[in-house]
Amino acid sequence: MPEPEYIFTDTQFESELERLKMLEKIFDPHSHRRILAAGLTQGWQCLEVGAGAGSIMAWMSKIVGESGKVVAVDVDVRFIEHTSLSNVEMIKGDIRQIALNSHSFDLIHIRNVLIHVADFEFALSKILDLLKPNGWLVIEEPDFSASRVIHGDREQSQAVNKVNQAICQMFTDKGLDYSFGIRLPSLLQELGLQHIEVENDVPISPGGSDVATMMKLSALQLAEKYIATGKVSREDIHKYCQFAENQTSWGVYLATVGVIGQKRDDT
Ligand SMILES: C[S@@+](CC[C@H](N)C(=O)[O-])C[C@H]1O[C@@H](n2cnc3c(N)ncnc32)[C@H](O)[C@@H]1O
Repeated sequence: MPEPEYIFTDTQFESELERLKMLEKIFDPHSHRRILAAGLTQGWQCLEVGAGAGSIMAWMSKIVGESGKVVAVDVDVRFIEHTSLSNVEMIKGDIRQIALNSHSFDLIHIRNVLIHVADFEFALSKILDLLKPNGWLVIEEPDFSASRVIHGDREQSQAVNKVNQAICQMFTDKGLDYSFGIRLPSLLQELGLQHIEVENDVPISPGGSDVATMMKLSALQLAEKYIATGKVSREDIHKYCQFAENQTSWGVYLATVGVIGQKRDDT
């Protein structure tokens, strides 16, 4: 059987849930602001692609209320399948393959998903087809080319540099772009979206911060995949985790590009 495309497939339930909850803690305030800037309001029909642990799905369902609806699509629904919200429909499936009607949604939100999809152009064109004319797309994706050590213990810093290389290599080996986030503005422009707004968040994070902890949790889950790139040893990953815990070490672990755009009414 071919290896699954999504790198966090087959992860252990509790540790993956912990990682997803940390993602939500870090990124939800930014996503809320962008989604509200796009105009989310009562009665809207929304699609959440790659819902993960479901916080944005649940938050949007409160805002759109009973006159609105949220559809949540994910290849892995184990973290949301027991949520019961009357205006939320969950669909287990790949966004590239599920059947949804064209022009159904006022807003589509996608975060940390398309970096895992090799044929993202196909996925994006399908997503755009699902938007109503004048509907809004909010996409937030990482750029791991921004990763760098700023300050820390020399040996740990060397290990962090190596792990950062391994992360990039792991994506490349799967035919994925580790800096996918920075392509979003031009991709959405080429797709004909209007009123495009772009932000690039590049936090400089100390050890023990939420960002450092989230990346440590990823390293622990993906250790075998990092080692398989040939760039790092288990000892390097151990030192990376120490760096991520040490409050006097500082680094950029990733950048996140957030883009809002509106579909034209003639497309
Ligand atoms: C890194 S997690 C991000 C979860 C959530 N969007 C967040 O930022 O908190 C990526 C999510 O996308 C889902 N996913 C990956 N590839 C997908 C695809 N082709 N179609 C639908 N969901 C996908 C994964 O199962 C996972 O839940």
